[in-house]
Amino acid sequence: MPWNRRHLLTLEELSRAEIEQIHATARAFKRTLQPGGARVPALAGRTIVNLFLEPSTRTRLAFDMAAKRLGADVISFDAASSSTTKGETLRDTAENIQALQADMIVIRHAAAGSPLYLSRILDIPVINAGDGAHEHPTQGLLDTFTMIEHLGDLRGRKVVILGDILFSRVARSNIHALTKLGAAVTLVGPSTLVPDSFTALGVKVSHDLRGALADAEVVMLLRIQHERQAAGHFPSLGEYTSMFGLNKARASWLNPRAIIMHPGPINRGVEIDSELADGERSVILEQVTNGIAVRMAALFLCAGGRPEQLPA
Ligand code: CP
Repeated sequence: MPWNRRHLLTLEELSRAEIEQIHATARAFKRTLQPGGARVPALAGRTIVNLFLEPSTRTRLAFDMAAKRLGADVISFDAASSSTTKGETLRDTAENIQALQADMIVIRHAAAGSPLYLSRILDIPVINAGDGAHEHPTQGLLDTFTMIEHLGDLRGRKVVILGDILFSRVARSNIHALTKLGAAVTLVGPSTLVPDSFTALGVKVSHDLRGALADAEVVMLLRIQHERQAAGHFPSLGEYTSMFGLNKARASWLNPRAIIMHPGPINRGVEIDSELADGERSVILEQVTNGIAVRMAALFLCAGGRPEQLPA
């Protein structure tokens, strides 16, 4: 199937077939990450600017590595030393980056909709690396890619997403990808962070941790997004942990083959204990590695990469 999008803005707008195409492309690129794997300089001569106006470790580094593995030149925008600190707008910043002959922009921004806005005013592809509490499409793609590696086809698979759903762009992107791929998704957490309104997205909402974990094949932990909460949504972190933190006793309620996921960064001892984050059921670092392959796929497809350029 030909890829017809120049931008990757949300998973809400992608079809199941498009998600599967990104996954298949990422699978081809993942083979190149092995020692001695073939280099695929499909983006040689292109310049990609990582315009991150919020902090990031995994996403920015993975986009850097993905672009370099595709042969592109990569420039990471340093927000703290940029003219945004002098009041320059996002529009002016982005139009200047385009005027400096960038071929593609990867943007992370606190404002929901900022990647869509740039896609409407620029002539170059825009990739969303996280916009406020709205979406984090490449995270949803790498998470579902990792689940498929462990479980195969996700139709009917039981996935629990546990934690601060309300303020999580990761949760929204995963919900869109998982429901399109046929998984049965249950959101769990305190009612202030997991309101019933999420059922409109085709998922279940539960505040009964034990019941939800009992038949889960995947549990994905999310951290409390303090940076996006204007007011406390629960009495204290300690109380949150005592009610919803994943520890060894609660993990014993899980299906024995269940995998444990977390997009990072982890607040150890809050949403998950270290022995589980580092334990044998954890696939957290596999998620990080898969982030390179998935971002190679996103950059390659949105830059107009052709199937014959993919590694065998
Ligand atoms: N998962 C994720 O987006 O991590 P970073 O904020 O470190 O990029």
